[in-house]
Amino acid sequence: MKEKIKVSDIIQKKGKEKIVAITCYDALIGEIEDKIGFDIILVGDSVSNTLLGNEDTLRIGMDEMIIFAKAVSKKVKRALLVGDMPFASFQISKERALENALRFIKEGYMDAVKIEGGKEFCETIKYIVKAGIPVMGHIGLLPQFYLSYGFKVKGKKEEEKEKLLEDAKILEDAGVFAIVLEGIYEDVAKEITENLKIPTIGIGAGRFCDGQILVVYDVLGLTPPPYPKFVKNYTNLREIIERALLQYKEEVISGKYPEEKYIY
Ligand code: KIV
Repeated sequence: MKEKIKVSDIIQKKGKEKIVAITCYDALIGEIEDKIGFDIILVGDSVSNTLLGNEDTLRIGMDEMIIFAKAVSKKVKRALLVGDMPFASFQISKERALENALRFIKEGYMDAVKIEGGKEFCETIKYIVKAGIPVMGHIGLLPQFYLSYGFKVKGKKEEEKEKLLEDAKILEDAGVFAIVLEGIYEDVAKEITENLKIPTIGIGAGRFCDGQILVVYDVLGLTPPPYPKFVKNYTNLREIIERALLQYKEEVISGKYPEEKYIY
């Protein structure tokens, strides 16, 4: 196994090598992802929509996130592991936010945490960074804040662009080691990336970010369509699973399964 990836390795990649990140919520996929050699594996709160079947990411809490983080950490030994701070885990107070970030490190065996939001949360981020926990920022389209701002691609209007550029700089000054840029027009994401010393990781933010991240079940075609424009399915696991399960069902009904070799 290659050496464990550190936050400093991620920062050093900026301008040299693309950073490849992906989400993960369980030990089985985690083992495969780590074997392939992803730089960052995010235990994302998208587990709320994917594995837990919720409509959004607002209905998941710290206790559930820790279960998924722990499972992933059992099999991921090389990638930098980032735990996604769920809705309500960091808004109440910076002290509460630090307690929850510490849980990700101590109970979930994560190496860092991610927090959605810009300058509104910079004091909280500074507080967590000061306590010794690396933080990844996340700006642009913010799924945790859709009740207030909707699911809109950001950066078309001049004021949106200015806010994104300002938020990115403030987060960098607050000490984040990287920033996820979600749902941002490509030219704006490019400008943000060029303005920062730390790397940007894009999701629906075009080609010029320092790295990319996608939800693993979107990559595998397990989540049902429709997909956002930026999603590329690299296979169609839904179809593959459906075919296999149908065959199993038919073979039980017809008596083909279990064949001789599966019998004691
Ligand atoms: O939870 C998630 O999946 C995310 C994305 C940025 C990948 O936060």
